[in-house]
Amino acid sequence: MREKWTPAGWRAKPAKHIPTDYPDVEALAEVERTLRSYPPLVFAGEARNLKARLADVAAGKAFLLQGGDCAESFKEFHPDNIRDTFRALMQMAVVMTFAGGKPVVKVGRIAGQFGKPRSSVTETQGAVTLPSYRGDNINGMDFTGEARVPDPKRLLQAYAQSAATLNLIRAFANGGYADLHNVHRWTLGFVADSPQGKRYREMADRISETLDFMAACGITPDSTPQMRQVDVYTSHEALLLGFEEAMTRVDSTTGDWYDTSAHFLWIGDRTRQLDGAHVEFARGVKNPIGMKCGPSLEADDLLRLIDALNPENEPGRLTLITRFGHDKAAAGLPKLVRAVVREGRQVVWSCDPMHGNTLTTASGYKTRPFDNILAEVRAFMDVLPSEGAYPGGVHVEMTGQNVTECLGGAREVTVEDLSDRYHTHCDPRLNGAQALDLAFLIAEALRGARIKAPQAAAG
Ligand code: PEP
Ligand code: CO
Repeated sequence: MREKWTPAGWRAKPAKHIPTDYPDVEALAEVERTLRSYPPLVFAGEARNLKARLADVAAGKAFLLQGGDCAESFKEFHPDNIRDTFRALMQMAVVMTFAGGKPVVKVGRIAGQFGKPRSSVTETQGAVTLPSYRGDNINGMDFTGEARVPDPKRLLQAYAQSAATLNLIRAFANGGYADLHNVHRWTLGFVADSPQGKRYREMADRISETLDFMAACGITPDSTPQMRQVDVYTSHEALLLGFEEAMTRVDSTTGDWYDTSAHFLWIGDRTRQLDGAHVEFARGVKNPIGMKCGPSLEADDLLRLIDALNPENEPGRLTLITRFGHDKAAAGLPKLVRAVVREGRQVVWSCDPMHGNTLTTASGYKTRPFDNILAEVRAFMDVLPSEGAYPGGVHVEMTGQNVTECLGGAREVTVEDLSDRYHTHCDPRLNGAQALDLAFLIAEALRGARIKAPQAAAG
């Protein structure tokens, strides 16, 4: 039996990837007190709605699409960037909804995705070694001693940016911008310009025909609000627990604790220690939560983590986000899936095909080949059903901008192109065209398989 949970209980546990070198700890405590008095960013009822949607995914009745920046930054904070990412997510969702014949649950890695776990605590350039950049909510990216000092005021700026971003997303989602006809018109533009246009055209045309048919039957955005409004949820890695603790409040409707910094929070692959601070924090908030599962995770440990994070086996509560790498997924995934299915644990399985597929080019760019990303998604879609589980979603690092960070795609990005528009503050993202390419290719797989609901939930 675990002890009673409190929002600050994580402070007594070993915590990885949380900075301990703030020069003025009293200033940090003061900022956390201030944050505690700020309004919640999301409402507990919304987090409950997302949990219910994710329970549909766990039962094989819906599909999860989670995507956005690896790390949001103060510098790239601009309405056009938010708009373009929102638009790319909506386009992906429409294509996948149509192909899969199931609702797509849309979750942005947005409005709070700042802090990053880093593989090394220091970075060396030439003869100079400095603390690593840890995300804009902690320190600065410039390679100077001054920028790399953690500054608590950055948490307030991250809060403000998250609030403004979320405000715009809510406006886009409810104000008509996400109208299905609009979204499809953008996709037709993409298809017309794509080198893979012919391949995508057939599906795009079928969506057009369906919309025309619906309009002829009187189902239009004017008559049917669902055609011009969407539910979009926010998520980020629950890494910087001081911030998350400050945003954790008692919900007056249920008396339960919710982390109101986002609808969905996940635990990273490097901070999922059973007795560590991050698992301790996440187990007590009632939001739907995720956990990254990489090649170092053993099946027994996974089951113990599931016990800690979802003791009541509540569907929708826990999403397992697998991130093995295209060359390790087929060998590594089955043992985890088999154990979870055998023990009857209700989870959502989602595939992050990004974090196991990062490589560094000779010229020093961190990148990811599109074909490897696709190969990992395909391996996931093969393995899950063959183990009696439902491949419920994808989790991607993407932007709507035309960046050159991942290699390949139909409008190919080459090694030489990487330096053109390499803007990410951390890992390489799919650009808008690559993200939609991926959606069409996943759609083809969904259409081929029309993936069935898992045994347990169907029975
Ligand atoms: C991330 O999602 O940005 C990340 C750091 O992933 P992981 O924990 O899987 O390495
Ligand atoms: Co990343």
